[in-house]
Amino acid sequence: MTDTPMTLAEMATEVLTTADGAEKTALSRRHAAAWRAARTGDAPVIEIGHAAPPRHPNRPDKPELLNPREVPKRKPGSPQGRIALLHAVAHIELNAVDLHWDIIARFTDVKMPLGFYDDWVKSADEESKHFNLMCDCLAALGSHYGALPAHAGMWRAAEDTTEDLMGRLAVVPMVLEARGLDVTPGMITLFRKAGLTQAVEALEVIYAEEVAHVAYGAKWFNFLCGRDNLDPKAEFHGLVQKYFHGALKPPFNEEKRADAGLPPDFYWPLADEEPPAYAR
Ligand SMILES: [Fe+2]
Ligand SMILES: [Fe+2]
Repeated sequence: MTDTPMTLAEMATEVLTTADGAEKTALSRRHAAAWRAARTGDAPVIEIGHAAPPRHPNRPDKPELLNPREVPKRKPGSPQGRIALLHAVAHIELNAVDLHWDIIARFTDVKMPLGFYDDWVKSADEESKHFNLMCDCLAALGSHYGALPAHAGMWRAAEDTTEDLMGRLAVVPMVLEARGLDVTPGMITLFRKAGLTQAVEALEVIYAEEVAHVAYGAKWFNFLCGRDNLDPKAEFHGLVQKYFHGALKPPFNEEKRADAGLPPDFYWPLADEEPPAYAR
């Protein structure tokens, strides 16, 4: 053991290489608190540093990861279907914890303002909370994370963009997390109809906080375009076509996407439907 304080990149790598969900999220929240304290001057400065994040984050033995086509479908209106839905969200949240720490550790060669790190540390902290909220909801229904199979391949967007920070921002926060804004209101309605207040409240927290994650993506994407004198819309379209496999699926949550700084002419031209006149 040495006394050298950990860098932020090393903290991120430590989260990525922790397998157990509860341990991973606890560590993530501790590192986020340490970063916040350093940034407010309540603790010594933490350097960004450099690290070698793993190509794939460590994950628990369960859930079993299956090809999306092999994951059994359950009726969303049934008790088993509601458990499956919460389980799927828990899986997405755990993946998101790793995605946010990965963007911190992966691109330290690109010089970015400290605010970039503030944003992703805060996002990673919130994703850790979201995972724990979903675990609590599953426990209240007699289940747990790992009880059902989950989608393999969620790390693909990260793997495809290990060399391309702008590609990562385009595909992860601005496409995948923006998709979360489209589908979460429907899930909230479903749990409200079932009278599951705990799940409704947890999903409302997630819904509110995810807007900022998409906004951080758009903010730093625009920052990099400005720094390199690139047209953000054309750049976004090119990168999504390069790294995202498939068309975007309407209906879009245009209101929350606008809150997050995503204008309609960014995403509509990438959809599998004819865009409305205002979004071409
Ligand atoms: Fe989340
Ligand atoms: Fe997020």
